Amino acid sequence: MRIRSDDFRRDGRAIVLVPTMGYLHDGHVSLLTAGRARGDILVLSIFVNPTQFGPNEDYARYPRDLAGDLAKAHAAGVDFAFVPTAAAMYPRAPLTRIVVDTLTDGLCSPRRPGHFVGVASVVAKLFHVVQPHVAIFGEKDYQQLMVIRRMAADLDVGVEIVGMPIVRERDGLAMSSRNAYLSSDERVRALSLSRALAAAEARFRDGERAATALIAAAKAEIADGVTVDYVELVDTDTLQPVDTIVRPALLALAAFVGKTRLIDNRVLSG
Ligand code: PAF
Repeated sequence: MRIRSDDFRRDGRAIVLVPTMGYLHDGHVSLLTAGRARGDILVLSIFVNPTQFGPNEDYARYPRDLAGDLAKAHAAGVDFAFVPTAAAMYPRAPLTRIVVDTLTDGLCSPRRPGHFVGVASVVAKLFHVVQPHVAIFGEKDYQQLMVIRRMAADLDVGVEIVGMPIVRERDGLAMSSRNAYLSSDERVRALSLSRALAAAEARFRDGERAATALIAAAKAEIADGVTVDYVELVDTDTLQPVDTIVRPALLALAAFVGKTRLIDNRVLSG
């Protein structure tokens, strides 16, 4: 991959990278479509990164479908799929880790210790191997996007970080590879996540600005049998908690539907 990227860069071609863990859905395809329009060489990476999963998380059973992914990649105009093995990415346990502070004070970070260190570190590695000019990430993982953007700026990696809007199923469920885990019954209950965000946004549109009221409005929509991990209102730039909305704020939530942990978010502004 590095040799190819060196050649493309020497020829003045703009390289766009869409990093993923595979099991591609239409949200990923929207990133690839955006990437296709932004550069000359479109690279998709597929790597289920072990270092961003906690010991009790779903690394081993994370859904994988390389043949299906490559067909979707081809249809979306991908030039290269970079699909390294874990042994190639981590020939030995790394001693170097990238820690992004304060942006990881809340939301998913305290609930998934080590997760964002794993993400920031593997994305830095992917950037060094693929050497893209542009990299594209989804806003469903809003905290991830902010962490990567800051890591790239702080370390002068010279990669433009682009965020793309959440893609939803027709009924509102945010697309996620983990939706594949849901039974049909859980799939119905999972809809309460996007409904919760919509309910809070409706209160916001009615003039409510207090975090406690907006968070309560969201929690009230969460279906029975769904366990809220968190519902938080944070500043869209700093990700620090907001008491009263005076500038754009992110309402973000995570919840367990059965054993499946899903996240969703919505920006409240204007
Ligand atoms: O969002 C993902 O799929 C992963 O966290 C990423 C950015 C590919 C890093 O492993």
